[in-house]
Amino acid sequence: MSESIFIKHAAQLVTVSGHTENPAKRDGMRELNCIEDGALLATDGKIIAVGTTEGIQTKYENEINQAKQINASGKVVSPGLIDPHTHLVHAGTRENEYAMRLKGKTYMDIMNQGGGIHATTRATQQADVDQLYQESKQRLDTFLVNGVTTVEAKSGYGLTTEHEIKQLEVSQHLNENHVMDIVSTFMGAHAVPVEEKANPDAFVDRVISEMIPEVAKRKLAQFNDVFCERGVFTPEQSRRILEAGKEFGLIPKIHADEIEPYGGAELAAAVGAVSADHLLKASDEGIRQMADQDVIGVLLPGTAFFLMAEFAQARKMIDQGLAVALSTDANPGSSPTLSLQFIMNLGCLKMGMTPEEVITATTINAAHAIGRANQIGSLEIGKQADITIFDVPNYLTLSYQYGMNHVDTVIKCGQVVVEDGNLQTRALKKVR
Ligand code: NIG
Ligand code: FE
Repeated sequence: MSESIFIKHAAQLVTVSGHTENPAKRDGMRELNCIEDGALLATDGKIIAVGTTEGIQTKYENEINQAKQINASGKVVSPGLIDPHTHLVHAGTRENEYAMRLKGKTYMDIMNQGGGIHATTRATQQADVDQLYQESKQRLDTFLVNGVTTVEAKSGYGLTTEHEIKQLEVSQHLNENHVMDIVSTFMGAHAVPVEEKANPDAFVDRVISEMIPEVAKRKLAQFNDVFCERGVFTPEQSRRILEAGKEFGLIPKIHADEIEPYGGAELAAAVGAVSADHLLKASDEGIRQMADQDVIGVLLPGTAFFLMAEFAQARKMIDQGLAVALSTDANPGSSPTLSLQFIMNLGCLKMGMTPEEVITATTINAAHAIGRANQIGSLEIGKQADITIFDVPNYLTLSYQYGMNHVDTVIKCGQVVVEDGNLQTRALKKVR
């Protein structure tokens, strides 16, 4: 059944148009192409017109009469936010480690003593599919209420073929059933299992010879990620894993230079990764190589905030020509948040980004980081009608009033799934 939606009188309709071919860089990250008294018409889940209210009302009178009307006066309409880096599917929480860190233990100390990623791996291995599905579904609901309409989700808390596949299958089932779109990444190389610490290369061999072919055969992931960090996977091991994934059509991503400078940014450029994520300690040369090779920098300031670390140098990176996206890194250890709006605020206050740049970084550049820029990330004719309406008078207020959820309405594929800030029952099922 054809269903239309007409949004009118937006104080600002933030289109973020003009960057579908290539991610926005430098000054391009500050061009939001806002329309005042803006309007948008969508039919069958796709955007068919964007412009001023008056302009669209004159041209599409018939279509508008049949459409559901949404008055966005006094509000900001933007592309649905996109979170390009999450560890969505996992079991449990780690508030005990948070308390330990507050007393002075480091993230890596805890991991090296068998906690951290290993603790969540044990919980996730023990959890059955139903538990993982329910926990992750709750997180998706919260993401949606907070204005996010697409998330990337990584495996990496299974660390055996069986349990990595279990995690990815949960993502796949959620993608089939929940209105949220989920883009899956295989991350078998998230940690060397405790019992294999003595021989990490044997584990790397298994990721390459067993896990990657099985994940690819079952079509469970589009991307392949690795935690390249001292004490986890070396740049050489990371390179082998990412190159092996390429043979099976998995596009490389990399957790790079999070805790120490370790050549992760350089490796991302060398293997042609779509993105390198974290980059807190990336070298200037690594950033230059990434910019040259059009690798996107996915920055995760929630992680720096939560680990009480130095923030990535977003200002410098953008000025050097790197396309930057922002993400929550949602996970139970280093960034237990589901609020991309808070991340936008951190982008401005802690990394020197402008309010315009943080919007570009959570819409079109985030879409590029997960290979979806043709479908989502901007309000342009032909794109999926994924739209967030914020109850703020202008987009500056989004990153100015912090620590709160400004979302009024969320539209996913042309369907209202959050209204007056509340999740609608239709949000629980995909209707496409
Ligand atoms: O991106 N650094 C590696 N992985 C995650 C943390 C995962 C965890 O602590 O459970 C990250 O920070
Ligand atoms: Fe991560």
